[in-house]
Amino acid sequence: MTRRGLLLFAATFTAGMGIGFALVLIGSTLATRRARAASQEQGTGVRVRDGSTADLDAVAAIRVSSWKDTYRPLMGGQVVDGLLDIGDHRRDIGRILSESQALLLVAEDGNHALAGFALSHIGADGEPFLESLHVQPGRRSHGIGAQLLQQTAARWAARGHRSMSLHVVESNLRAKRFYDRLGGREVGVVVDDWRGAQVAQAIYRWNDLAAVRDR
Ligand SMILES: CC(C)(COP(=O)(O)OP(=O)(O)OC[C@H]1O[C@@H](n2cnc3c(N)ncnc32)[C@H](O)[C@@H]1OP(=O)(O)O)[C@@H](O)C(=O)NCCC(=O)NCCS
Repeated sequence: MTRRGLLLFAATFTAGMGIGFALVLIGSTLATRRARAASQEQGTGVRVRDGSTADLDAVAAIRVSSWKDTYRPLMGGQVVDGLLDIGDHRRDIGRILSESQALLLVAEDGNHALAGFALSHIGADGEPFLESLHVQPGRRSHGIGAQLLQQTAARWAARGHRSMSLHVVESNLRAKRFYDRLGGREVGVVVDDWRGAQVAQAIYRWNDLAAVRDR
């Protein structure tokens, strides 16, 4: 090979290596992104999307099974059994959903089944109020509740709100621990009327919605 041929070969080889290296780099970046997306999906096994009236039956069913599973042991059948009518829950959720600024987020698995939901709206004081957060009894403790709460907070923050509050049954210690961990602060107690039953509830508040998102 002549010196010129040798130089030409070296230049072609170097350029080829450069292109090859760039392709490997792009490929590995895409693979990392895909792996990250897959692991996010695997982490909780669900994606969170906006809910609509088409989800009302599934959402009401989750709320009823969660109330039964959670509140019956805490308050007894005398209080809770009369509050498990699925039609009542469907109407109640539908009424809130029809409010102009209501936000329903649902956690949907790969089979399009709902694993949980978060329903919030604007309270009387103009602040976002998380009315309901429930994850199917068999699917708890996998991060789905945290994912729903974080996305709810992010959505209200995107609409220009800075804070959010909720009421949680005072004796529901596991849920209170969950809200503590996600940055909520217990700021008071209120007695709510649950269709005739007086139920003590802790008021939780986030003064800074960004604190929910960053956890
Ligand atoms: C509270 C709740 C929404 C959290 O959702 P999740 O997907 O289980 O939450 P994460 O996996 O992100 O966090 C797990 C934490 O939630 C809480 N939690 C788990 N199972 C729970 C249960 N059966 N009841 C109440 N809280 C529970 C605990 O603090 C738990 O932490 P731990 O696993 O260390 O005990 C969900 O557990 C639930 O639906 N609980 C029953 C209904 C309820 O209490 N809703 C709140 C009404 S204000």
